[in-house]
Amino acid sequence: MDTLQVFSGTSNPDLASEICAYLQIPLGKAQITRFPNDEVKIRIEQNVAPFDVFVIQSLSAPVDHHIMQMLIMIDALRRGSAERITAVIPYFAYAKQEKKTAPREPISAKLVANLLTVAGADRILTVDLHSPAIEGFFDIPVDHLRAAPILADHLRTLHIEHPVVVSPDSGGVARATDFRYRLGAAIAIIAKNRLRPDSVEMIDMVGDVRNCTAIIVDDMISTGGTLFEAADMLKSRGAEKVFAVASHAILANQAAPSIASGRLNGVVVTNTIAIPPEKHSPYLTVLSVAPLIGETIRRIHLNLSVSALFT
Ligand code: R5P
Repeated sequence: MDTLQVFSGTSNPDLASEICAYLQIPLGKAQITRFPNDEVKIRIEQNVAPFDVFVIQSLSAPVDHHIMQMLIMIDALRRGSAERITAVIPYFAYAKQEKKTAPREPISAKLVANLLTVAGADRILTVDLHSPAIEGFFDIPVDHLRAAPILADHLRTLHIEHPVVVSPDSGGVARATDFRYRLGAAIAIIAKNRLRPDSVEMIDMVGDVRNCTAIIVDDMISTGGTLFEAADMLKSRGAEKVFAVASHAILANQAAPSIASGRLNGVVVTNTIAIPPEKHSPYLTVLSVAPLIGETIRRIHLNLSVSALFT
C-alpha cells in the first residue's frame, strides 16, 4: 500500500475523506482554485511519479466544472509521471445521453468517456451507471460497482412485511428484478412516459400492490418526478406504504422538500453525490459507499479480484 495515493476534486470531499480513512492513508495534497478568468487551476503538491494514483470526483452539479476539474487533475498527474491513474467517479454524469433519440443529437456520455481517456485515465471505477452499456464506451478497464447490496441490506433491517419491489419504468426492470431476489419480494412494473426533462406521466402498472409495502427502485432521483408520480399510482392501486431506494441523490428542483414533506414513508439513497445539510430530512436515509469504493481501490492496487467482492 506504500505506492498508493488518493486525490480528490471538490465535488464530494466527505466521501473522499471516508475512503482515505478506510484505506488508512492521507488524502493527496493538491491545490484546486480558479484563475481570475474563472478557469480551473490545479497544482499537485507532492511527488506522484512512482505511484498508483486514484482521483475521486463525482460529476454532480455544477457538472461541467466538476468534469473539467477531473480532466485537468488527471492531466497534471499524467504530466507528473504517475505510474497509473484511475478515475474514481461515484456518479457518472451525462449517462442519460447515451444514445440518440432524435436526429442531430449528441451522444454526450461517449464524449465524456473520450475526454477522460484522452486526459490520461488508465482505468475507471464507477457506481451504478444509468446504462451498463456505457462501460463499452471505454477502451480501458472499467470497474462498475453496484450499490444494491448496501441498499438491500438496509431494507432488510426495516423488516418490511409483504414487500413488492417496483420498477418505475421499463428501463429499470433488471435493477428491480435484482432487488426482488435480494429481498425475496414480489415485483411490479410501471409504464412511464417522459413528457419533458422535468415532467413524467405514469401510464399503467403490471403487478399487484394491494395491502403491500411498495419499494420503488431507481438509479437516481433527479427532480423526483418519477418517484412521486410512481408513489401516487402505487397508493391509488392500494399500496399501504411506499418506500424508495436509489443510488444517486441528485435532488434537483423540489425533490428534497417533497421528500421532507413525507410524500413517501421513506427514501434511502447513498452518498455518491454530496447532499447539502438543507436537503437532509428524517424521511431521507443516506448510506455510505465509502467502504465499497475503498475496498475496491485496495483490491485494484493489490491486483486482487474486484468481482470477488460481489460473489
Ligand atoms: C430514468 O430513466 C431514470 O432511471 C430515473 O428514473 C430518472 O432519471 C429520475 O429522474 P426524475 O427524478 O427527474 O424523474
